[in-house]
Amino acid sequence: MKDLKGKDILSAFDFDRETLEHLFTEADELRKKLSEGKIKLADGKIMATVFLEPSTRTKISFQMAMVKLGGSIIDFQPESSSLQKGESDLDTIKIIDGYSPDLIVLRQSKPYFPHSIKDKIETPIINGGDGTNEHPTQALLDLYTIWRELGRIDGLKIGIMGDLKYGRTAPSLSYMLTFFKGVKVYYISPKELRLRDEVKNKINGKIIYEEMERLEEIEDELDVLYVTRLQKERFSDPTEYERLKSSYIVTQDSLKKLKKIPIIMHPLPRVWELPEEIDSLPQAKYFEQAKNGMFVRAALIKEILGL
Ligand code: NCD
Repeated sequence: MKDLKGKDILSAFDFDRETLEHLFTEADELRKKLSEGKIKLADGKIMATVFLEPSTRTKISFQMAMVKLGGSIIDFQPESSSLQKGESDLDTIKIIDGYSPDLIVLRQSKPYFPHSIKDKIETPIINGGDGTNEHPTQALLDLYTIWRELGRIDGLKIGIMGDLKYGRTAPSLSYMLTFFKGVKVYYISPKELRLRDEVKNKINGKIIYEEMERLEEIEDELDVLYVTRLQKERFSDPTEYERLKSSYIVTQDSLKKLKKIPIIMHPLPRVWELPEEIDSLPQAKYFEQAKNGMFVRAALIKEILGL
């Protein structure tokens, strides 16, 4: 198992199977403890959240996790900061680092931005999303949800659907799945939105996968269907976005055509690809998935702070 104390978490590959299983068990324990009352574990510790791209779940669940552990948070607000005066992202983060928080959770739009600054700052950084590259703690809560719902990850058949080219959750989830045995992934997307070669190179030979354009093409029984939205903000050509808009959508009818209805997951936010009619299915797990994020992020904070 990896010792995460004081470590940066920049990629899904910063974990291994044993560490993940430890975090999942720890998340379950924290969930139980929190339901019984307050925890003072992180008393006196401070986490700074620096989100330079929009966020709801990642930021709030990290903040809730830290506060529930008994720690404090400082939230950087880009709109009212000196970024508006032209200060660079690096200078901004160096300043925050200089005030000695115990942890920084960072989201930024450039791929590998946290990797490029990590040696310039003292505080451990958690990558809360770096452009199209990765979102390692999203993969953490995705697998924690599968582990809780299905009791295992080995041997599962998982469909990952949507914008696999610009989305960062599909790469991180795929990387994390390489730690498990006998997983098969079906990547379902329009041709234009297939996984980038850079991502394929990291999973080739480590998980078995197939690419397809439509859900109906899957003949196997899927255990999980993980849906993602079209990443509108990452399209340089708005006509390309308009053309691909609504090119894939999960409906009750499309799910009924499958051999069995798998559990349905989504990192959220959803737009048109996962209509509200799906919410009433017992297999719809995306709101539960978002809640799980708080507990597994609490477990991660506990490990990094060595509590
Ligand atoms: C995801 C992200 O930011 O990559 N959101 C999240 O953190 N749950 C997915 C998305 O924005 O589509």
